[in-house]
Amino acid sequence: MHRTARSNRIRLVAIGLGLAILYFTFSPWSFGYDSESVRLTQFMNSKETGTPAVVKPSSFNWSSVASQHVSETLIVPWNKHARLPRVQYVFDKESNEEAQSREYRRTQVRNVFQRDWQAYRKFAWMKDALMPMTGSYRDQFSGWAATLVDSLDTLWIMGLKAEFDEAVAAVAGIDFGNSTSTTVNTFETNIRYLGGLLSAYDLSKRPILLAKAIELGDLLHLAFNTENGMPVDFIDFQRAKTGEKLLVEPTVVSASPGTLSLEMTRLSQITGNPKYYTAVSGVMSLFYRNQNRTNIPGLWPTYVSMSRKDVTTGSQFTLAGSADSLYEYLPKMHGLLQGAEPMYDTMSRGFLDAANEHMLFRPMLPGEDDILISGNANANDDGKTSLDPESEHLACYLGGAYALGGKILQRPDDIETGAKLTKGCMYAYKSMASGVGPERWNMVACESRTNCKWNEETWVKERQKRPEWKEHLPRGFTTVKDPRYILRPEAIESVFILYRITGRRQYQDAAWDMFQAVRNATHTQYASGSVPDVTIPIDTSKNEDYMESFWLAETLKYFYLAFSPPDLISLDDYVLNTEAHPFLIPR
Ligand SMILES: *[C@@H]1O[C@H](CO)[C@@H](O)[C@H](O)[C@H]1NC(C)=O
Ligand SMILES: *[C@@H]1O[C@H](CO)[C@@H](O)[C@H](O)[C@H]1NC(C)=O
Ligand SMILES: *[C@@H]1O[C@H](CO)[C@@H](O)[C@H](O)[C@H]1NC(C)=O
Ligand SMILES: *[C@@H]1O[C@H](CO)[C@@H](O)[C@H](O)[C@H]1NC(C)=O
Repeated sequence: MHRTARSNRIRLVAIGLGLAILYFTFSPWSFGYDSESVRLTQFMNSKETGTPAVVKPSSFNWSSVASQHVSETLIVPWNKHARLPRVQYVFDKESNEEAQSREYRRTQVRNVFQRDWQAYRKFAWMKDALMPMTGSYRDQFSGWAATLVDSLDTLWIMGLKAEFDEAVAAVAGIDFGNSTSTTVNTFETNIRYLGGLLSAYDLSKRPILLAKAIELGDLLHLAFNTENGMPVDFIDFQRAKTGEKLLVEPTVVSASPGTLSLEMTRLSQITGNPKYYTAVSGVMSLFYRNQNRTNIPGLWPTYVSMSRKDVTTGSQFTLAGSADSLYEYLPKMHGLLQGAEPMYDTMSRGFLDAANEHMLFRPMLPGEDDILISGNANANDDGKTSLDPESEHLACYLGGAYALGGKILQRPDDIETGAKLTKGCMYAYKSMASGVGPERWNMVACESRTNCKWNEETWVKERQKRPEWKEHLPRGFTTVKDPRYILRPEAIESVFILYRITGRRQYQDAAWDMFQAVRNATHTQYASGSVPDVTIPIDTSKNEDYMESFWLAETLKYFYLAFSPPDLISLDDYVLNTEAHPFLIPR
């Protein structure tokens, strides 16, 4: 079957080549913008790589829609003399024995990936997500093959060349002019699809990927075609085609408008077209100007209003889900621009300090482990802040964010904070009966980070306040409010970053324990499925029949990279978006 499909495609190349040249000649980036990376000659060369290079333009040309919101064009800032501090540890040469064990581990990760990819290929090809237990599929992200696009760079990184070529050829036929839903989710489309295309392009330089990234970038750019230039959370697909302004929602979670910057900036860097960077700079300046005017200066409330350009009103604060990647992207933008736009430096320092003071806590634990957990906070207008010691898997990115921020901003204390936060999530994994961390939990916060003695009575008193407490839960936890594991990457993401930054082997060993537990718990009929309860021994027949695209895009990629030689996707060369897609830092 594989062979037949391939030779059909190769025959199509001949027919497609004529059409494709026409398309490339008339596409907006073949003239007008000076972009070294996209040239017709390079496109022709791609034949040598064996990729069937048939680009089928989408049924609607998004670049033909003129945005009615006009603002002064900003050029992507660049200081070619700037050089941020080195991020990665300088690793010693490993022994043969170490190399063997590391290679064994990464082969195990790749085996899981290959099984799951083959299942996607067989049962859900060109669909958004695989149902791993029944061998069916779901389209929940406009039907543009989310899992396929999200997995491109992982295929490349794992050296699965034939699979990569086949997937790139399939990308050529995706129609961004049609959608299975009437509205397009701006955030998800940006991080999964645009992020996926850009990183696969950065790694492979296949022009098909850039052509499709531009089509999609032009669609996403229309999210900013609004009265005040702020983006909509959901793009009304038909209205966007007419060029009429879209209506900005009154209230959104802060991560939605706050997680467009890396992708839009990278697209401007690659194409030389500044419009994407210009659009996203408007939102980020709004966050910047108001960072110190909130109830917790340095942080923004969980809910913000893009229609009123209000990012200050509100008393709920979190660094976890709903807000997470707004914060994650601040030091990463500093990295991608190599410090050329100072507002990302200021915003990064502001949030790292404020979060450390108001949101992080040391939990009271029977072993008195010196770890940190990220909680939530409520802050009234009078400046009174109260900590809610509840955390979730989504908050586990924060250890990596502190360590990365600490490294590039030269704040060594933040690297240690990042290490303790990462150990907090490692602790949540190893405490559970399955060895896999839960989705949401509560602990008891100590007043002091240096003096945090275990007190059984305090724990009993605290857990009695919690209707969600259960007899079988590990000591130290007062709830596991949501006991699922839905294939999330954030814990291994931070473990990977801490390993690359500190060089400490304990992170690699922790990654291996986590991998074995996660593999066992998620292994179902055809591929990997979510776990309903990690607090009890696993029965995988009870798993959920759904495989999120981020399992292949992020979770297995981070596991694989944790066991790879450290120069594979070096953090000195790449910035990873919140969907684990590496973007090349231009030099
Ligand atoms: C899409 O529209 C732009 C702007 O009108 C035009 O320059 C470009 O040639 C069009 N692309 C295609 C493939 O028709
Ligand atoms: C759009 O997709 C639907 C199915 O999702 C299909 O019926 C329709 O023909 C497509 N339209 C175009 C213009 O391709
Ligand atoms: C916010 O406050 C910090 C600390 O005082 C300061 O360094 C930073 O420049 C301020 N940010 C803005 C946008 O004024
Ligand atoms: C995973 O399963 C294998 C085989 O069933 C078993 O040997 C191993 O101990 C399990 N590992 C974990 C971490 O549960």
